[in-house]
Amino acid sequence: MAFDIEMIKKVYSQLPDKIAAARKVLNRPLTLAEKILFAHLSPEQALEAFERGKNYVNFAPDRVAMQDATAQMALLQFMQAGRPKVAVPSTVHCDHLIQAKVGAKEDLANALTVNKEVYDFLASVSDKYGIGFWKPGAGIIHQVVLENYAFPGGMMIGTDSHTPNAGGLGMIAIGVGGADACDVMAGLPWELKWPKLIGIKLTGKMSGWTSAKDIILWVAGQLTVKGGTGAIVEYFGEGADSFSATGKGTICNMGAEIGATCSLFAYDDKMSAYLKSTARADIAELANGIKEHLRPDAEVYANPEKYYDQVLELDLSTLEPYVNGPFTPDLATPISKMKEAVEKNGWPAKLEVALIGSCTNSSYEDISRSASIVKDAVSKGLKTNSEFTITPGSEQVRFTIERDGFINDFESVGGVVLANACGPCIGQWARHVEDPSRKNTIITSFNRNFAKRNDGLASTHAFVASPEVVTAMAIAGTIAFNPLTDKLKNDKGEEILLNEPQGYELPPKGFAVDDPGFQAPAEDGSNVQVAVDPNSQRLQLLAPFKEWEGTDLKGLKLLIKAKGKCTTDHISMAGPWLKFRGHLDNISNNMLIGAINFFNNQTDSVKNQLTGEYGSVPATQRTYKAEGIDTIVVGDENYGEGSSREHAAMEPRFLGVRAILVKSFARIHETNLKKQGMLGLTFANKDDYDKILEDDTFDIVGLTSFAPGVPLHVVIHHNDGTSETIEVNHTYNEQQIEWFKAGAALNIIRKKFNA
Ligand code: F3S
Repeated sequence: MAFDIEMIKKVYSQLPDKIAAARKVLNRPLTLAEKILFAHLSPEQALEAFERGKNYVNFAPDRVAMQDATAQMALLQFMQAGRPKVAVPSTVHCDHLIQAKVGAKEDLANALTVNKEVYDFLASVSDKYGIGFWKPGAGIIHQVVLENYAFPGGMMIGTDSHTPNAGGLGMIAIGVGGADACDVMAGLPWELKWPKLIGIKLTGKMSGWTSAKDIILWVAGQLTVKGGTGAIVEYFGEGADSFSATGKGTICNMGAEIGATCSLFAYDDKMSAYLKSTARADIAELANGIKEHLRPDAEVYANPEKYYDQVLELDLSTLEPYVNGPFTPDLATPISKMKEAVEKNGWPAKLEVALIGSCTNSSYEDISRSASIVKDAVSKGLKTNSEFTITPGSEQVRFTIERDGFINDFESVGGVVLANACGPCIGQWARHVEDPSRKNTIITSFNRNFAKRNDGLASTHAFVASPEVVTAMAIAGTIAFNPLTDKLKNDKGEEILLNEPQGYELPPKGFAVDDPGFQAPAEDGSNVQVAVDPNSQRLQLLAPFKEWEGTDLKGLKLLIKAKGKCTTDHISMAGPWLKFRGHLDNISNNMLIGAINFFNNQTDSVKNQLTGEYGSVPATQRTYKAEGIDTIVVGDENYGEGSSREHAAMEPRFLGVRAILVKSFARIHETNLKKQGMLGLTFANKDDYDKILEDDTFDIVGLTSFAPGVPLHVVIHHNDGTSETIEVNHTYNEQQIEWFKAGAALNIIRKKFNA
């Protein structure tokens, strides 16, 4: 469980010199994000004044964290790398696969049975390769990372989009796909486009019903779900230093909802206090020794417009609580206007379920403040008027709040404590609804509220607010309630105004935990066997992809000419396919089933050139594969946009597609294709897309002299016996051409470490 203090000492010993060198090259003061980024350049990356939003730069992150749904493919790939151990400290967290149904105990027991083989696999791989393993029930990845591993000035990547939560402790923490995690664990550099910077100046101080969640709810309203794309959001100003580290974590966590690369706070006394209370006084002491390097340069504070691409300012003294939603986290309504908004929009006012906790909002502070509202309400003869659930973020939080009586407080009003896991936040919620089409309202202290996110029902209107507001609304039973001004009738018919919440930033008696749920890896894992049942439906060991045969590719059949938007969701759908994330063969049965076939405008219906019949994309591809026939996929603009899901690149590679030829690629997907040894090509002349006919066969020529910047050619053989040759571009550099030739980037790593 122990964090790696030697690693942190090393980072801190190099930080001042690296920052000084960067300051010299840029010849100006630095923001905090810049300091951390420059201090984490990969050793072979030359230091220069990188252009924001333009240059791709190689980094050496300090840590990797993975959650159980994404860790499966990340680790299956890592197993192929041939390394005896991970190159940087890494952890696995079992939080996504636990379904919330009855309550913590039963739900956890059920998950241990249903997911046994996945958990056993993750545990044994972790044991073998030196990865810390957090068992089911130990907690949610981001809360556990904040409590144990995040440190000011550090850099980490995690296979989950809310990884930026660690920014609450001053760490650059970025969500990535499993293939990226695999690279960093194998000791390879990690590439990121040098980000833009958004500065958010916080002045004043919060009080009363307002809490840290309201800051990010306000920011989401200002910047919208796309406003942070490609940017690091840096919070600064005396207001930023005025509230807890866990509150800062909440804000950084939900920065994912504005599309930010990550969010960040500067090191301050609140972070020092949190580090000390979570048994890391030694890190606080080290950080205090280099404090000025863990904050932006003073000139940045004085003149923020000069150093950030965009600056927002917020006076915390005037901030009121917000309620965001439904269906999108950036529809922000101040609580004083909520009643009006509910009426105007026809949102169902009756609140059916109020859910607090999750990785976003389950700190001791959140829970103690929410419990104070419940206690106040009970003492005044009030009770809850909706269902009420509490999801602790970690066993340490759960154990401590139980010891301090808060769980009792919640249970006294019918609150149900769920497992320390994602549960209703990721749709792992067996909600009891008699009519799934009935419009209904829930409110959570979580982060996402897209349609179907929590309970899979399109009819559910999900709102997001602070845990304090969610708790107050559970008592009121309506989302048209403003606890600052509205009174409630108690059991004696009296009109009652709730007291403002009261709580503690940190537990006065300290944190406590009996069994945190951590399993340390074997000192020497070389003898640990990783067991995967060959008949498993959920896990499958990967076999290396075949090397390039050394010749041009001839006789490729057209599998599909995709029309319009083709995101990673169209290429590899989520939902029910989530359970196959560790089984490449099974999950490949969703390959491109969401893409629209240009020739018949249908999804999952393509012509099999061998039989002339139409069938599903994966099934058709499998028949080509069985006949030893290679294929090509043709696509439109921005092919592969969306998530960094590597399955979208691995599935076609696995099923025998040899090339993806499109008008343009989304960058991450293009890189993923290259990593898996696939040819990703673009039309030199986009109109050539129109030349592709349903019965075409293709040759890709020029591969024997494949070189950076040199176009390739594709010969299109039409069914009528004619053929034409078109030019196609690629963006492969020397290194990536080697990946292609070796069959995949992993094959090169494997050879290197087996040599
Ligand atoms: Fe889990 Fe929801 Fe957080 S899915 S990691 S609790 S955002």
